Amino acid sequence: MVLRSEARRAGNSMLLTHRRGAERPDEVPGQRHHPDERGSVRRDPDRPGPDPARLRLAKFHAPEIVFGHGSLSEAAHAALRLGARRPLVVTDPGLLAAGWPDELLSQLRQAGLQPRLWHDVTPNPKDREIEAGFQSYAAEGCDVVLGIGGGSVIDAAKGIALLAANGGRILDYEGVDKIGHPIPPLVMIPSTSGTGADVSQFCIVTDTARLTKITIMGRALVPDVSVVDARLLTTMPDDLNAATGLDALTHGIEAFVSLAHNPLTDNHALQAVSLVFGNLAHTMYHPDDTTARNLMAQAALEAGLAFTNAILGACHAMSHQVGGLLDLPHGVLNGVLLPHVIRFNAPTEPDRFRSIAQAMGLADGRAGELPADEVGEWVAAEVRRLADDVGVPKGLAELGVSEANVSRLAEFTMADACLSTNPRPASVADIEALFRAAL
Ligand SMILES: NC(=O)c1ccc[n+]([C@@H]2O[C@H](COP(=O)([O-])OP(=O)(O)OC[C@H]3O[C@@H](n4cnc5c(N)ncnc54)[C@H](O)[C@@H]3O)[C@@H](O)[C@H]2O)c1
Ligand SMILES: [Fe+2]
Repeated sequence: MVLRSEARRAGNSMLLTHRRGAERPDEVPGQRHHPDERGSVRRDPDRPGPDPARLRLAKFHAPEIVFGHGSLSEAAHAALRLGARRPLVVTDPGLLAAGWPDELLSQLRQAGLQPRLWHDVTPNPKDREIEAGFQSYAAEGCDVVLGIGGGSVIDAAKGIALLAANGGRILDYEGVDKIGHPIPPLVMIPSTSGTGADVSQFCIVTDTARLTKITIMGRALVPDVSVVDARLLTTMPDDLNAATGLDALTHGIEAFVSLAHNPLTDNHALQAVSLVFGNLAHTMYHPDDTTARNLMAQAALEAGLAFTNAILGACHAMSHQVGGLLDLPHGVLNGVLLPHVIRFNAPTEPDRFRSIAQAMGLADGRAGELPADEVGEWVAAEVRRLADDVGVPKGLAELGVSEANVSRLAEFTMADACLSTNPRPASVADIEALFRAAL
């Protein structure tokens, strides 16, 4: 939660000068623009003059990315290049059982390094776990942090590195750019096709006292190297594959309509949407199809590149609260909430939702002509259909959320950084209504 005002700095602050209810920031009075099939803004050919959407300031950060089948073997070289001698490998029991950390450890040793292992991370990583991980890093005299796992492991690895250079308690860093000293080098190896944490400037931590998830945000948290090897995806259980694929979809959609989107993030966001729709269900029925796994790895990566620069929206602001309260899988919550948030946002941004519908392949190529009052329903229904296909629950009640939780969840959502870039302003009553609709 927290930091709505500060989140604006972490996106492209130029875009956030956009006044709600007025024309989009990329428009000048009297000069309308239309999204083309890739979602970029196309000028009216009858109106000469410079294109403001192309002239405005856009920032884009990203780690070095090593992508491809078998790329795990590159992680040891990356650690060496970053000056490692005693790297800390952060992972969790599920990954250990799948065997991937052993492969990494052996390659690190072959490269002449003396790796140390720390594996006490649980899903939705807890503040105390990260502090214990830092104690291990310090006691072992480590120098570089490698995270091999899903978003929970990657966030824990980032948190450990943060504490190694800055000290204190992890919750002290809630907010934007609160990290004063450069952190040790980070090499991240994602094992799920979802979170994009391996390229992002976010670290999401469960505050165990308040039972909510806090957001630490800042360019210092962008890893040095992301090693994306789709082989690791083959040991994911089906429910994890489904959940993380829907998380990547949510990143793509929320980044594309975010108030902080820019032309550099738009293509990645739409490509991610298209890849998830083209491949997620296929990987459920054909888990050994290497091509589809690679494309899902690419979807997660591109969605990550989009949202770390454009930030997110109401769906993530809401799912963070439920995840913190009930320790539920992040991607499942996004999959349940996303159709409701789409219906809420679409009237504000029908053009951009038409572009999303096109990326999904909706309406026989006629998605660009969908009426403004129908496009949200089309997109929402198609997201729900995909969620049904991959077995995600229909509502939050099935996951243990009840009416009694709604007002607290809505109150915490209002303080979440991700809400500040949602395209439509949302009151506490709006958020309560969205939670009720999603029950
Ligand atoms: N920092 C960011 O930018 C960012 C973005 C989105 C989500 N997140 C966070 O990421 C977390 C969710 O991460 P996640 O959905 O990737 O799952 P996860 O890391 O929570 O892992 C869930 C379970 O799956 C197991 N697992 C993961 N990969 C596996 C594999 N390849 N084979 C077998 N088992 C495997 C793990 O051992 C764990 O038990 C949440 O805490 C969420 O808030 C962070
Ligand atoms: Fe997410």
